[in-house]
Amino acid sequence: MKESSRLLTVAPIIAQIASEDDEVAGYKWRAGMTVGVNHGIIHRHKAYWKDPEAFKPERFLDECEDKVKPKTFLPFGGTLRICPGRFMADRLIKTFLIMLFRKYEVELCEPDKEIEYHYAMSNKCKGLKVYLKARNKEHTAAA
Ligand code: HEM
Repeated sequence: MKESSRLLTVAPIIAQIASEDDEVAGYKWRAGMTVGVNHGIIHRHKAYWKDPEAFKPERFLDECEDKVKPKTFLPFGGTLRICPGRFMADRLIKTFLIMLFRKYEVELCEPDKEIEYHYAMSNKCKGLKVYLKARNKEHTAAA
């Protein structure tokens, strides 16, 4: 889940309005200006990620030598406005995946096809066709 959110960040651009004049890293902005941070770019930046375009879920394992650098993985934002629904979202997605994979074997219909998505405040998948094959009934009966 983490590696998928890194490569295809659901909400890649976060915009907030400065409440007062400020200066950060030498850049000045006045109160009322919109400040945008592109998490999608940070998630694929070669300064922070080794082989950034590759899908490597193991980068998030504790035993991985290349530790994820602080403030470089921000699927739910990373400021005071960090998503308050992040734990709920995490559990909902995990529960959905567990229930799905417990009952079905899932296979992509077109494994070599790039995922098509469009951006409108968040990235939305245009459709991803999969084959579902029921697992044996003995296993799913208790589900
Ligand atoms: C995969 C699911 C989700 C993703 C990727 C996501 C991502 C985000 C991001 C990136 C922000 C902006 C954080 C910032 O400004 O730094 C945000 C804000 C917010 N999210 Fe989520 N979110 C998800 C699910 C949810 C759920 C399930 C809820 C509520 C049940 C929720 C409620 C909110 C609220 C209320 C804010 C505004 C927080 C504020 O401005 O103080 N989100 N979310």
